[in-house]
Amino acid sequence: MTNVTRHEKSSKINAPIVEALKKAYETPSYQFHIPGHTRGNGSLPEFKKLIGTKALTIDTTDEFDGLGTLHPATGPIKEAQELAAKAFGAKKTFFLLNGSTAGNLALAMALTKKGKKIVTNRNCHRSILTGMIISGAEPLWLVPNRFEEWGIWGNVSPETVDKMLSENEDAGMVWITNPTYEGVVSDIKSISAVCKKHNVPLIVDEAHGSLWNFNKHLPKSALELGADAVVHSLHKTGGSMSQSSMLHIGKNSIIDVDAVEKSLKLLHTTSPSLILLASLDASRANLESPRGRKQIERAISNAKFLRREIDKLEHIHDLKPDFGYMTDVTKVFIKDDRLSGKRLESILEIDFNIEVESASDAGLLILSNIGNTRADMQYLVKCLQQIDKTDYTDICYLEKKKYMPMLTPIIKMTLREAYYSHKEVIPKSEAIGRISAEVIAECPPGISVLLPGELITEEHIPYLLDYENIEVIK
Ligand SMILES: Cc1ncc(COP(=O)(O)O)c(C=O)c1O
Repeated sequence: MTNVTRHEKSSKINAPIVEALKKAYETPSYQFHIPGHTRGNGSLPEFKKLIGTKALTIDTTDEFDGLGTLHPATGPIKEAQELAAKAFGAKKTFFLLNGSTAGNLALAMALTKKGKKIVTNRNCHRSILTGMIISGAEPLWLVPNRFEEWGIWGNVSPETVDKMLSENEDAGMVWITNPTYEGVVSDIKSISAVCKKHNVPLIVDEAHGSLWNFNKHLPKSALELGADAVVHSLHKTGGSMSQSSMLHIGKNSIIDVDAVEKSLKLLHTTSPSLILLASLDASRANLESPRGRKQIERAISNAKFLRREIDKLEHIHDLKPDFGYMTDVTKVFIKDDRLSGKRLESILEIDFNIEVESASDAGLLILSNIGNTRADMQYLVKCLQQIDKTDYTDICYLEKKKYMPMLTPIIKMTLREAYYSHKEVIPKSEAIGRISAEVIAECPPGISVLLPGELITEEHIPYLLDYENIEVIK
């Protein structure tokens, strides 16, 4: 055996769902079960041509052809979840369909109940709000630091978590979003120590941080820093297919894992897509492999290259780590002194055929992904250089809306009560003194101006520019 073949053998990728699906593809059975398109024979030919016969052939659900089941996890699915737990440093991992949204909902359903207080950042994802609507839990809002100059919300400090827990002995859980959408990282190690001091579990919504455990130049994953449960949107940055995510239980977790599993079973479809499950298995196997690690290194090196080149520009700047907070280098939030982020986004789109992750009034977010090449980044740099030296004006520039000052919300009813109340839509001019029935949030930066159950006051009105009508409690 040559060195090369020995090396190839030792580094063989172990991806049980991918293997099982390949076997099912290669040894087809006569199918009299769902999905009814039966390998694409019942599909629209145009769609079949677009997506490919192979994709339709492997579009199947659990239970068939030795592929195992998701609930309870059996066969290759169970094996793949165990491999993922090992790779991410978890006690147990659940594969999620319907994204990290499903993970957050399951955590809320399993670990909270009516009246239970959850300490969480006001800019949490809406799935956490939905979780509270389902369970009837109530939020104790943490105010993150805010970066005025960048128009974004930043890190949550351990001190604010400690204060909140000290002042609210009935707080039963802490739920932190880390990193923020723009890549700002909180000190989860200290927050975890605070939670342990107060004996409450720490859940970390690490939806945007699924690469972290695979490269030492990225922030440390909350699983390593003592979180009890963590969600990862593998589809966002980890290379799996859209809507596939993972929920991990920390090694020394104090939460009720069986309750989480039961909630997932209630929430999940009973016909899980094997393609999505295989893509999670493949993504984990890739990130662990030498090739995947190189892809992460490339994403980091591309981001560093982009940042170095931006540093040479006159008008365009990037958000960097600062005293008190870290950033994930692969999330590059930029702004142009002369232009709104939305205008910069439209220039990139219309003049240069570039799509970025998101844009706000202040700036825009570029993701340096594991799938981007150096040539992609070089093209982006060239375009930014050109924009920097061109006299663009902000023709579609709206008056800059300031994000919401963190007014203490006047909570008149719980999220759940508000959700299930009778509602009506009224003109904004009549809204003062009424109770909001909808989530009003600028996204990004994504902090909620009003949530269901909160009193609408005069101070809210300047932040409701985009609204003519508002849904309120009847
Ligand atoms: C912080 C955060 N948590 C959770 C989610 C939900 O993730 P998914 O789209 O995987 O359901 C998102 C989505 O954008 C998010 O930004």
